[in-house]
Amino acid sequence: MTRDDDIAHAAEVLRQGGLVAFPTETVYGLGADACSDVAVAKVFAAKGRPQFNPLIAHVSDLAAAEALGQFPPAARKLAEAFWPGPLTIVVERTPTCPVSRLASAGLSSLALRVPSHPVALALLKAFGGPVVAPSANASGRISPTTAAHVRASLGTGVDMILDGGPSRVGVESTVISFLDGTPRLLRPGGLSRDKIEACLGQPLSAATAGPLHAPGQLESHYAPRASLRLNADAPKPGEIYLGFGGHAHGPHTLSARADLIEAAANLFSKLHEIDAGASAIAVAPIPETGLGEAINDRLRRAAAPRG
Ligand code: TXA
Ligand code: MG
Repeated sequence: MTRDDDIAHAAEVLRQGGLVAFPTETVYGLGADACSDVAVAKVFAAKGRPQFNPLIAHVSDLAAAEALGQFPPAARKLAEAFWPGPLTIVVERTPTCPVSRLASAGLSSLALRVPSHPVALALLKAFGGPVVAPSANASGRISPTTAAHVRASLGTGVDMILDGGPSRVGVESTVISFLDGTPRLLRPGGLSRDKIEACLGQPLSAATAGPLHAPGQLESHYAPRASLRLNADAPKPGEIYLGFGGHAHGPHTLSARADLIEAAANLFSKLHEIDAGASAIAVAPIPETGLGEAINDRLRRAAAPRG
């Protein structure tokens, strides 16, 4: 079981950019400093995710959430009614939101949740900032509801596992988005639809297809305004080059030392940065190993013809 010392140590591991698995009332989460691109990239690497799905940023209270996301009145009402608890709310990021762009997979929105498990809350308070945490299982495996599940699934890929006993709810949080004026149920979960509808006084709409409401689907998540050419050995006239390893032309690189974790960490922030001042971007070849698969997946979507 967890002691105060363990919480303080876990907060320090997060501060150092490490990964801490921790209990929540829904399932165990694989936590990292939400504001560190590299720590967030490590989460994807540890889970072996084939894609960069956007992650939930966990915070200790509604005030902390409102510093990161813009809550319309209905979203605030739900948060006041059900937080801390098994509810995740998707809203637009605030202009000053410091959460890694990789964490929200390049989207302008952010998923936020205040968990109710006392160990999770203690960790969030000790750390003092947002913590991203997908379920602490290897991608495609069942979600962990005990520390032993986490150990079996992720083992040495985690720096520390906080044991808070079995998760009470046992299924992931319900995800509701408030991005287009109507509350939408993106994922059924530990808080039932009827409770949410009763609180809002209106029915929940279904998720629609498209990048805002179905991340992880095949549509592009983040499409730069500039055109994007992949597997480019060198830029053509008018293109800004985004390098990798030995492929270097100009100041921009995903990782000069060909480190795929560093490249993943830089991916969305670099695309945003270059997109602000370029109409054509050429990207170096990225190997298809490790996080390279997810990087290439995102680059292909970003380069896909716009509809
Ligand atoms: O109960 C839970 O929610 C657990 C615990 C650890 O808190 N976490 C969890 O995280 O289930 P994960 O990464 O396995 O699932 C996150 C869900 C995904 O369905 C993802 O698509 C959605 O939240 N999501 C995250 N950010 C989003 C965004 N900006 N827009 C739409 N959906 C988002
Ligand atoms: Mg999951």
